[in-house]
Amino acid sequence: MSGPPASLFVRALRGEPVERYPVWMMRQAGRYLPGYQAVRARTPFLDLCRSPDLAAEVSLEPVERFGVDAAIVFADILLTADAMGVAVEFPATGGPRIGRPIRTPADVRRVHEPDARRTAAVAATVARLRRALPADRAVIGFSAAPFTLCAYLIEGGSSRDFWRTRAFAYQHPDAFEELLGRAADALVPYLREQAAAGANALQLFDTWGAVLEPALFERWVVPMAARVIEGLGADRPPVIYFPGLGAADRLEAAAATGAEALSLDWQTSLGRAYARVGTRVRLQGNLDPTVLLADPGTIGRAVERMLAEVPPGRPHLVNLGHGILKETPPEHAAAFVRAAQAFRPAASPCP
Ligand code: CP3
Repeated sequence: MSGPPASLFVRALRGEPVERYPVWMMRQAGRYLPGYQAVRARTPFLDLCRSPDLAAEVSLEPVERFGVDAAIVFADILLTADAMGVAVEFPATGGPRIGRPIRTPADVRRVHEPDARRTAAVAATVARLRRALPADRAVIGFSAAPFTLCAYLIEGGSSRDFWRTRAFAYQHPDAFEELLGRAADALVPYLREQAAAGANALQLFDTWGAVLEPALFERWVVPMAARVIEGLGADRPPVIYFPGLGAADRLEAAAATGAEALSLDWQTSLGRAYARVGTRVRLQGNLDPTVLLADPGTIGRAVERMLAEVPPGRPHLVNLGHGILKETPPEHAAAFVRAAQAFRPAASPCP
C-alpha cells in the first residue's frame, strides 16, 4: 500500500533510523494553554470532548504554537466508562467523579458492552486532525489500558493509593478478571475506530498499573493490555504503552504487551531502560514535567542530559515522564520542544 511518506514520528516508532528525534508532550492540549482555557471558559469538559470541531481546535493548538511532531486527539480515558454504562462527571475541581462506582461483584454486571454512539465524536475528531495536518505530523489516538480504566471504575475518581482497587483484586479475583475482560473488549472497537479514522499511532495509558504488586501486574495488567493490542488485528497502527508511574522495575513485563514502544515515567533511568529493553521496543519519555517550571536554560540542559542517555542509532521518542502541569508557562513548553528538535543524535556505531 503506497500512501504519503510516513511522518518522522511513525518512522521512529517503527524503529527506523531518524535524523532527529520526534517530540510531543503528554497532556499537551490542556489547561496551561490560553486557547484551551478560552474554549473551556464557554464549554463544559464533556461537551468539548464530544464536539469534534472544538476538540480538533484544542488538539491543534500545541502543534501550531510549538511545532510538536504529533497531535494527540483531545478526549479523556473515562469516555469509555460512560459508554459502558458507568456515568462520569467532570466537576470544575477535584478531577473526574463516578456517581455509582463498581464496588461489588454484582456491580460488574452493570458494566455492559460499549455504546459506540457515546464515543463516536472521538473518531470524528481524529478524522478532522488527519485532514488538518500535513503528512509529516502524526495523529495519535488513545485510550486507557484495561487496568487503569477499571481502577477508576472501582475508586469512583482519582486516588492516592487505589486501595479499593487493590482490595477488590484480592477479595474478588474472578469478578476483577471479568471486569478487566469487559473493559479490554470494549476498548478494542473504540481504538479501531480511531485507527480507521486515520490515527497513525495509538497510546494506551496504564497510569496506575504499578499500584498492583509485581505478580499481579504480570497476571492482569500486562495480559489485559496485550489482549487489547492483539484485538486490534494485524493492520493496526503502532502502539505505545504507558505502564505508568513507578513501573521502572517492570519494563520487561511491560514489553510483553506487544506494544512497539513503552512510555517511561521520570523515575525510570533512560540509560538503564535502553540496556534492558531497548532492542525489543522503542522508548518514549521521560523528562520530569516539573523541569518545565524552571527557566528555559535549565530546560534545555535537562533535555540534553536526558538524550545523552539514548544509545547511538536508536530512534528515541522525546516526551515528558507524565502529563504537563497546568502551571507550566507556554514559553517553557516551547523551550522543551525547541531543545528536543535541536538535538542531533550521534550516528550509529559501525556494525
Ligand atoms: O493533550 C492530551 O494529552 C489529550 C487529552 C487527554 C486528557 N486526558 C484531557 C483532560 C488525555 C490523553 C487524557 C488522559 C487521561 N485522563 C489519563 C491518563 C494520562 C495521565 O495523565 O495519567 C487519566 C488518568 C485521565 C483521567 C482524568 N481526566 C483525570 C485524573 C483528570 C483530572 C486531573 C486533571 O488533570 O485535571 C481529567 C480531566 C482532564 N482530561 C483534563 C484534560 C485537559 C482537565 C479538565 C479541565 O479542563 O479542567
